[in-house]
Amino acid sequence: MIENIDNSANSGLLTLTGNRTVFWLSLTGTTTGLAFFVKWELLDLMQGGQFTKETNETGKVVIVTGANTGIGKETAREIARRGGTVYMACRNIKKCEEAREEIVLETQNKYVYCRQCDLASQESIRHFVAAFKREQEHLHVLINNAGVMRCPRSLTSDGIELQLGVNHMGHFLLTNLLLDLLKKSAPSRIVNVSSLAHTRGEINTGDLNSDKSYDEGKAYSQSKLANVLFTRELAKRLEGTKVTANALHPGVVDTEIIRHMAFFNNFFAGLFVKPLFWPFVKTPRNGAQTTLYVALDPELEKVTGQYFSDCKLKEMSPAATDTQTAKWLWAVSEKWTRPTMIKVH
Ligand SMILES: NC(=O)c1ccc[n+]([C@@H]2O[C@H](COP(=O)([O-])OP(=O)(O)OC[C@H]3O[C@@H](n4cnc5c(N)ncnc54)[C@H](OP(=O)(O)O)[C@@H]3O)[C@@H](O)[C@H]2O)c1
Repeated sequence: MIENIDNSANSGLLTLTGNRTVFWLSLTGTTTGLAFFVKWELLDLMQGGQFTKETNETGKVVIVTGANTGIGKETAREIARRGGTVYMACRNIKKCEEAREEIVLETQNKYVYCRQCDLASQESIRHFVAAFKREQEHLHVLINNAGVMRCPRSLTSDGIELQLGVNHMGHFLLTNLLLDLLKKSAPSRIVNVSSLAHTRGEINTGDLNSDKSYDEGKAYSQSKLANVLFTRELAKRLEGTKVTANALHPGVVDTEIIRHMAFFNNFFAGLFVKPLFWPFVKTPRNGAQTTLYVALDPELEKVTGQYFSDCKLKEMSPAATDTQTAKWLWAVSEKWTRPTMIKVH
């Protein structure tokens, strides 16, 4: 009898322990599953829209500025994979050659070229265009991607504040010098890589060059707003030519763009801050998707003067739709870069 009671107590205890184990196991399993689901779904979501449409770019000539690293390099790589002839327009020819070699080996596309183009020097831009025109009769896509962010105040060789000079004025001159080829090659496209930072931007008409006071964040936002204003004015001027001009925000992307931001570039940040941001930051490959979409999607052939993000049309800031400021900026940009000035090299 006593043995029986013991047995039944034991089996009760066993059942209870067993139930608890099953409970904890299933709770752990569910939580882990949920965590993985949320993590990967969230990560996928943070990586943004993907341009998955297969296109064949054989025969198309494309220029990508700042193509030796980051978003530009991934853009060049994907266009090369799709058969395009790619000109990597970079300031540092050694870094450019290294990137080109990697792209050619991977894509087996030999029509990838490195050419020097320092957007902080109007002479270098003019030289690049003159040499390009000697080599190619057509240009189907111009991707104005290169950029500098939040650097200490310095000037281009033409005396323009560096962020405005590289991000906007350099690309303004480059684009205008290539318009004849783009028109001749129509349908063709101009893609300006701007940023969400344009929504914080203001065009400082009283001190565009930040001569009186300089704030690196404001100067960056101003240059990125200039990208969108330029896009809209350009699209208007190109009406009826079958050359389109669009701007985009690539997302928050893990690239070298933060090279001047001390906060992100020390040992402590590498250890503690970056891992916190990591799930919310795109890889360079994913950061290139909107550029590729705007540059290549056949459905966008006639779409112009727009702003995109995550492979979707997005609303631009009210400041970016200010027609008067766009006209003013165009006039100043023309004065500072003199695109109609012919220089023989
Ligand atoms: N990463 C982001 O989160 C983010 C967000 C919004 C917008 N964007 C925009 O995306 C574009 C690409 O940036 P990224 O993130 O890929 O940055 P990145 O990794 O720093 O690449 C920038 C590229 O621009 C080139 N460049 C800089 N100054 C130049 C000059 N004077 N002449 C010619 N090329 C020059 C750089 O060349 P070097 O290697 O020789 O310096 C590099 O190839 C930029 O316009 C940026 O404003 C980026």
